[in-house]
Amino acid sequence: MANSTRPQRWRRTEGLRQLVREASLASEQIVLPVFALPGRGREEPVSSLPNAIRCSPDVLAARAEGWRSGAVLAFGVPDERDPLGSSASDENGPVARAVRAIKTERPDLPVMTDVCLCAYTPHGQCAVLTKDGRPDADATLAALGRMAVTHAAAGADVVAPSAMQDGQVRVVREALDAGGFGDALILSYAAKFASAFYGPFRDAARTAPAHGDRRWHQLPLSNRREALRDALLDEDEGADALMVKPALPYLDVLCELRRETRLPLFAYQVSGECAMIRHAAAAGALDEREGVMEALVGIRRAGADAIITYYAEEACRWLNG
Ligand code: PBG
Ligand code: ZN
Repeated sequence: MANSTRPQRWRRTEGLRQLVREASLASEQIVLPVFALPGRGREEPVSSLPNAIRCSPDVLAARAEGWRSGAVLAFGVPDERDPLGSSASDENGPVARAVRAIKTERPDLPVMTDVCLCAYTPHGQCAVLTKDGRPDADATLAALGRMAVTHAAAGADVVAPSAMQDGQVRVVREALDAGGFGDALILSYAAKFASAFYGPFRDAARTAPAHGDRRWHQLPLSNRREALRDALLDEDEGADALMVKPALPYLDVLCELRRETRLPLFAYQVSGECAMIRHAAAAGALDEREGVMEALVGIRRAGADAIITYYAEEACRWLNG
């Protein structure tokens, strides 16, 4: 190395640093998660996740005009639950109503929906269970297919199956195509780990499993090869984009998946990741804005195209002033 080699030359001024910046972050690639409640005029904050938006469709629609994110991802929090998760495919359920309401206000804003049964079943599992409590794969896949069609019929641009059931992408694709929704995209929660960081979400969506856990279908946190295998299978089944979730503890998976697929890649900065930064900042341990931006740029640097985060609106404000 020549004695005159000095990497710091590029760091001397802000202009020089910007000129050679590698990873960037833009509001168009940030996705805002929202929780849709039934009824009208409802707005219920989530105590464990202060920045979460949980409202009825009319309130979501009233707020949609002000959203700066590049897309929105809707989750349902229905009042009614039954063992088959039937209300998941109710065209007047909270998600379908929320999609229609948001699309009326913001026709150009891409709307995505979460496709899973855990918020619709009394036991809070992501699957239909048999009488003796075991997962019923056929019934589950059929229900997920119907749910996706209901969302597409309401106007969703993208459906995002998150149940981590083998074969779900293929079944959802077939159901969408058979229903006349060949343009609807599938964002697969391809590499979704059995994580402790979903805690605040389960509070927001009221989906904590009544018994047991989700280790029988979500990925074991120690297995990168298994995650890549599962993700690439979703690509074979017809996924239009893949996701890694959570984000920060799994950046290695994101980075490697980026090399293995040519599909767009999403990363989900999940509820617990956002809550950690929020609580650390509230305790005076770090600067919230800088902490959030560092995490988001890191996720982009690792290979994500778009990022789903509960900090979406704040991040867009910080980015665009
Ligand atoms: C449900 C679902 C979960 C999340 C998204 N969809 C939770 C879970 O699997 O328990 C987590 C999102 C978050 O923590 O922000 N299938
Ligand atoms: Zn689920």
